[in-house]
Amino acid sequence: MRRPVQKLANMMLKPIGLKTVRRAHATRGERDPAWGRLMAALKAYEGLFRQEVAPDLPPNERRFELLERTIGTPIEEVYYLLKSLHEALAVEGDLCEFGVAQGTNSAILANEVLDTERALWLFDSFEGLPKPTDEDELIDDIFELGQMEKYEGRMAHGAERVQGRLAEVDFPETRTHIVKGFIEETSQGDALPERVCFAYLDFDFYQGTKIALDLVHARMPAGGRMVVDDYGFFSSGVETAVAEFLEREGDAYELEPSPDFASAKFATLRKHA
Ligand SMILES: C[S@@+](CC[C@H](N)C(=O)[O-])C[C@H]1O[C@@H](n2cnc3c(N)ncnc32)[C@H](O)[C@@H]1O
Repeated sequence: MRRPVQKLANMMLKPIGLKTVRRAHATRGERDPAWGRLMAALKAYEGLFRQEVAPDLPPNERRFELLERTIGTPIEEVYYLLKSLHEALAVEGDLCEFGVAQGTNSAILANEVLDTERALWLFDSFEGLPKPTDEDELIDDIFELGQMEKYEGRMAHGAERVQGRLAEVDFPETRTHIVKGFIEETSQGDALPERVCFAYLDFDFYQGTKIALDLVHARMPAGGRMVVDDYGFFSSGVETAVAEFLEREGDAYELEPSPDFASAKFATLRKHA
């Protein structure tokens, strides 16, 4: 409020014992009504999700701003990720993401465990997708490249971007492990978590998914959760890797495909308690 207007308002308010106060900053919602409406819609969506699907999902004010930035992951998938993550926090272990790209979802996951001691393990070549194998049949040509072979090297982003995203949510560097390289090699190294309570598998192809499933299985206590993205979408290889894994380890897991209303295809693997 400008000074003369404020003065006049104060003169009028004085007889009834009131006066104006200056506010240093308007909230972003007040400055940008579209942003305010989006935040309100996200809060309403979360309310419904909590009521219908995940009554124990804890509140988190910062979540909404981070959700506004998600790129390739629809909101319903993010909420199912959060549901699984919070269920998994009942057991011991760190969090893993296999296939990180720009770190958009890494920041969302990190923000949920800020107040814990859990570490975040982020695996990516940072050189994009590897060469597909015979199991990777193209079922959805997402970039309209015509053949699967042309996807090699696509989705390459720098690791600095991921570090930037984590810094924005104040996630401590001491609890961040960015494991750079193709999982075919890094899974043979020493930079691996001891225990994993939650893993988000988003490598898109058969071979990487197969390796990640085995790596997590060996480190996951009963009660842990894995969410596998692109299950029956883009490359057939992800669903094949999960089917082969469950043929061997199926007794230990319950598989839940994404709900019909979801625009993304993903599967949740719950390790029996
Ligand atoms: C779909 S993107 C991940 C998106 C990310 N999870 C998100 O939610 O924004 C797939 C990523 O997996 C990585 N990737 C795929 N196969 C890999 C492999 N075998 N080893 C390491 N990184 C791999 C690619 O570099 C790419 O960044």
